[in-house]
Amino acid sequence: MISFKAPSNIALVKYWGKKGEQLPANPSVSFTLTHCYTETSVAYQQRSSLAIPPTEKFSFTFNFEGEAKPSFHPKINTFFQRILPYLPFLTDYHFTINSHNSFPHSSGIASSASAMAALSLCLMQVAQELGMNFTQDQFWQQASLLARLGSGSACRSTHGSIVVWGQHASIPHSTDQYGIPYPLPVHPIFDQYQDTILLIDKGQKQVSSTLGHNLMHGHPFAQARFAQAHQNTDKLIQCFATGDLETFIQVVESEALTLHAMMQTSIPYFILMRPNTLEVIQHVWQYRKSTSIPLCFTLDAGANVHLLYPKKYKEEVQKYIQDVLAPYCEGKHYIHDCLNTNP
Ligand code: DP6
Repeated sequence: MISFKAPSNIALVKYWGKKGEQLPANPSVSFTLTHCYTETSVAYQQRSSLAIPPTEKFSFTFNFEGEAKPSFHPKINTFFQRILPYLPFLTDYHFTINSHNSFPHSSGIASSASAMAALSLCLMQVAQELGMNFTQDQFWQQASLLARLGSGSACRSTHGSIVVWGQHASIPHSTDQYGIPYPLPVHPIFDQYQDTILLIDKGQKQVSSTLGHNLMHGHPFAQARFAQAHQNTDKLIQCFATGDLETFIQVVESEALTLHAMMQTSIPYFILMRPNTLEVIQHVWQYRKSTSIPLCFTLDAGANVHLLYPKKYKEEVQKYIQDVLAPYCEGKHYIHDCLNTNP
């Protein structure tokens, strides 16, 4: 049996908008997390050895946290169909896939990135066992490429600490095809950079990200937004090199608000922040002003807030979160995580 863990990731420069087959409209940069992950195992047997060979093109069973989940089958079928050109053996075997998350399923934390990354890593390992040869680099690159075909942001969850996905002029070897570990200098202030996820709303997402990305086609601000992502990536490169947290905060918060601004100005339009999202943002700004502690926020396509801060402020920020921000979270729930500096 093959098993892999893949962590969640939080984008600093956001992927929002795609082209072609799961290619990003702009480069994105993310922190790979440490404690929030999906662990997936895969067992496989030749279909011809089964008593009753199934009639479907792909044959698999999928269990999530110990329970059969047929509702996930269409997504896995689509994924297998997309990756078949890379893994032609997929039609010859029956796969038993077991998966669980380290974080509560109902937390509102998107798990498609870690889930697709873990499954892709398992399937790459199957490929190797079945005699396909890869160098180390090829293994990681193709695992990320397959994950991308499952869910774009998943390609940033297979390998690395800070990860870049999408071609960017200043980042050597960056490509739209797969995520790469960030190859340029990183100041030690970013070691184990903290990310506390405030669970503002544990409900289902109001808009699927696939639908959301599509709304960037014909969006009046799309081209300016894609250009801005390139510029913000350039700014981040400087921040990573120098440890300039003032600019880092400006880029990260602006990216989060721009992502939501894009959703609010598409047709149809969505507001995914909740009143407590805004309350928390106001508190973060006040706290930063009054303490000079470089606490900032980012958002994904939902109401939850990721709070980012250097490890050296961990104690006081976490006390502040517990005392002041926890009441804005559903059930006062939040999760402390950090950048996985040694993946
Ligand atoms: C807002 O990767 O979930 O989290 O490729 O359609 O599966 P699909 O989309 P997905 O989009 C994530 C968008 C985001 C920003 C980001 O993670 O960069």
